[in-house]
Amino acid sequence: MDHIFTMGVLGLGEGRSVISAVLNSRMWELGNICDLNEGLCKERCEEFGLNKYTTSYEEMLKDPKIDVIGIYTPDQLHARHIKMALLAGKHVICTKPLMINLDEAKELVRVQKETKKAVFVGQSSRYFEPALRQRRDYEAGRHGELETIETHYISDSRWFLERAWSHQQGFSWMYNFMIHAVDLAVWYLPEIEEVYGLGVVSENTRAYGLEVPDTLKFILKNKDGRFASVTGAYATPTLGSAVEQS
Ligand SMILES: NC(=O)c1ccc[n+]([C@@H]2O[C@H](COP(=O)([O-])OP(=O)(O)OC[C@H]3O[C@@H](n4cnc5c(N)ncnc54)[C@H](O)[C@@H]3O)[C@@H](O)[C@H]2O)c1
Repeated sequence: MDHIFTMGVLGLGEGRSVISAVLNSRMWELGNICDLNEGLCKERCEEFGLNKYTTSYEEMLKDPKIDVIGIYTPDQLHARHIKMALLAGKHVICTKPLMINLDEAKELVRVQKETKKAVFVGQSSRYFEPALRQRRDYEAGRHGELETIETHYISDSRWFLERAWSHQQGFSWMYNFMIHAVDLAVWYLPEIEEVYGLGVVSENTRAYGLEVPDTLKFILKNKDGRFASVTGAYATPTLGSAVEQS
């Protein structure tokens, strides 16, 4: 058996998915779980039969048995939490988005190079079964030549605006939601060198006191001239996936 990695999980909302994955894998062990919300820590312990947790990220980072930190905190905190993990000598798996603006990018790249620890972005949509199968078929040549790509992620996600952190500086529909559709396009056209994008803020988003575009369209141009069109809409009623073109 290869080396077994030990993971500490930070943020126990969506973080429950990686707890479940770790517990169901022979390649991983769960080191600890952490959330500021102690009630949620206890809930996860009960749900998964665990006997320890911490509400202090710093404490979890001090644990020498943990090799990798799985980060599932609000988008705005990812860069800070990744940096803390790297400086503590841990590898990182961070859910999307890796960061919410490029201001933090240079520093993160610097720290990653200095610490030589791996950072993996959990772009989960690449691992959904239809996406995996489509990719397999594409790589086997079953789709022929790729001329252009159209991806979309459209959902009435106004429920998300009930969360406190969607009202904090840095929240965007683009990084939180549309990134899945962008990532699928970039998976097939990895040398994007030009982007044209439009976005509007609907009255529905404004009604929540936010000024972030919720209806978006990007054209991504690849180095070789091929392009992708990516669409997102998040705060208006949708027709539902049964009638959407995929
Ligand atoms: N398909 C996907 O890939 C997918 C799906 C859902 C969410 N996400 C991502 O997962 C992340 C979390 O989303 P969520 O829906 O679970 O949000 P959430 O608000 O339910 O959970 C975030 C948790 O982080 C905890 N937290 C915040 N700061 C902390 C700190 N300093 N130390 C410890 N805990 C802290 C909060 O108490 C909260 O329980 C977001 O970045 C979101 O974009 C990804």
